[in-house]
Amino acid sequence: MSFELKPLEISDAPTCVAIYFAAFQNAHSLGCWPRDVLAVREWWENMIRDELHEPGSQWLKAVANESGDIAGYCKWRKYEAGHEADTSLPQWPEGSDKRLADETFGDWANKHPQLMDLEMVATDPKFQGKGAGSQMMRWGLERADNENLEAYLEASPDAVTLYERFGFREAGRTDTWIENERVKPGTLYRNLFMIRPAKSTI
Ligand SMILES: CC(C)(COP(=O)(O)OP(=O)(O)OC[C@H]1O[C@@H](n2cnc3c(N)ncnc32)[C@H](O)[C@@H]1OP(=O)(O)O)[C@@H](O)C(=O)NCCC(=O)NCCS
Repeated sequence: MSFELKPLEISDAPTCVAIYFAAFQNAHSLGCWPRDVLAVREWWENMIRDELHEPGSQWLKAVANESGDIAGYCKWRKYEAGHEADTSLPQWPEGSDKRLADETFGDWANKHPQLMDLEMVATDPKFQGKGAGSQMMRWGLERADNENLEAYLEASPDAVTLYERFGFREAGRTDTWIENERVKPGTLYRNLFMIRPAKSTI
């Protein structure tokens, strides 16, 4: 199966949110975001619309050549030299687990370095394992190599092996206890910070 990477458009936001919620089935995502609350979906759609043309960011969709379906999407963001990490937290939507989002996203944001950052990647479960995710990763890594930049991401446990295959290595971790009405019994969730060195240092 082949995919073409195209810039994401504003009208794609609802599809991306549907893909995001279908793809992320880990305890952290389920704990933070109830799928059946309209305000939560709208918050995510608005976030994509607001950040679509943010300086240094590139949102891409992987479109299946056969069907024209959006198979997945990603956001790469390049931090220029001298960038200060933004440690402010958004106003989380009603219905989300605000304590969990504050604890985890706050901690993660505080450790944001300056480089080529894969902020988000998700493939619709119907299209997983067919190459879209790797294609979206290669897009940003080629740019990182061309500009001799480190690449960075935060890995959910399921994706660690994939990222290691692309040269990312653990640079830090957080362990968070997650327990609420959607995650029962509670579970310890490990999030890895991963760095892929700049080409010149490999
Ligand atoms: C991680 C993810 C983006 C990969 O996208 P993809 O389009 O399936 O990627 P590819 O088809 O290029 O597959 C690359 C590798 O990913 C792994 N992979 C694919 N589907 C997977 C799945 N459902 N679960 C775990 N790993 C998977 C496989 O190791 C695969 O290797 P292979 O080539 O030996 O089969 C996708 O599985 C996904 O959206 N997962 C849920 C959300 C998530 O965890 N995103 C990453 C956030 S840190």
